[in-house]
Amino acid sequence: MNPPRTDARRHHDPDVRGFASDNYAGVHPEVLAALAVANGGHQVAYGEDAYTENLQQVIRSHFGPTAEAFPVFNGTGANVVALQAVTDRWGAVICAESAHINVDEGGAPERVGGIKLLTVPTPDGKLTPELIDRQAYGWDDEHRAMPQVVSIAQTTELGTVYTPDEIRAICEHAHAHGMKVHVDGSRLANAAATLDVPLRTFTNAVGVDLLSLGGTKNGALFGEAVVVLNPDGIRHLKHLRKLSMQLASKMRFVSVQLEALLARDLWLRSARHANEMAQRLAEGVRAVHGVEILYPVQANAVFARLPHDVSERLQKRFRFYFWDEAAGDVRWMCAFDTTEDDVDMFVAALKEEMAR
Ligand SMILES: Cc1ncc(COP(=O)(O)O)c(C=O)c1O
Repeated sequence: MNPPRTDARRHHDPDVRGFASDNYAGVHPEVLAALAVANGGHQVAYGEDAYTENLQQVIRSHFGPTAEAFPVFNGTGANVVALQAVTDRWGAVICAESAHINVDEGGAPERVGGIKLLTVPTPDGKLTPELIDRQAYGWDDEHRAMPQVVSIAQTTELGTVYTPDEIRAICEHAHAHGMKVHVDGSRLANAAATLDVPLRTFTNAVGVDLLSLGGTKNGALFGEAVVVLNPDGIRHLKHLRKLSMQLASKMRFVSVQLEALLARDLWLRSARHANEMAQRLAEGVRAVHGVEILYPVQANAVFARLPHDVSERLQKRFRFYFWDEAAGDVRWMCAFDTTEDDVDMFVAALKEEMAR
């Protein structure tokens, strides 16, 4: 059959990449191919399709027999749906001040989910039992929102990675206080690549109750899933997903993407590559006098401090964001499609601009 005719025209240069975000990347070709495979014919809508059914097996192969996936459109939606399922109307979620749910979701957990966030400043994006205790109190105090969940991000928003033992300590502490543990895993694959362990080793094996599992940053077109690991006390997820406008009618196309990533090793290949490019970038940057790397580079992000004017000139050549403009802090992200040449050209440009 001839390929279908289309009037679509390309409006960008497919060979230009920057360091702004792993969300700037396109779709991994293997995911795009899987979407084409799932196309054609009719399948039951709203998750009763063959792809979503198969995804459950794939998810159980990673996270064990009690795991269940609820595919959603995006990461904010996954977090809002997941957190609602473990909080009462009077409940609160303890999270790092830098957490995506706190600073980058437009207030959706509060406004859409109706959830109070209790935030804690952290040196590196990571909570600890001691830091959690700054907000974990007052369960009987009706004047205070009741802490019911601890939410951590793996990897964190600052590109750091919790060890399995660190997550275990958080889970034990949270559970001892009757709180659930949620992981925002929009970059869970990157954490697994760094730790070099299966996904379950730092999630259900150490006590995590539910997570938001990322697909988009790992090479999907769009699509994430809430994954319930321990169903005890997790309520009405199906209904909350619909109510929160995260129930895809053509769900097969979300599920097949997650399946394409997770059924074999695409998730790990993509994440490993992105992480390796961040290591290469960090190495190059460390050799440039006057540029400070701010946090341990443990996944696919490099945070750095450099003179403001240098960043502004560099931004004319490569896309990236200021993280804290006043301090001169920037974030450089690598993706599954970042190449060694991209990194080397960027480091060379940084050197040039620093020398001007
Ligand atoms: C830590 C974290 N959580 C969740 C998300 C997902 O957000 P979105 O709603 O844009 O898919 C992101 C995206 O940048 C993120 O960095």
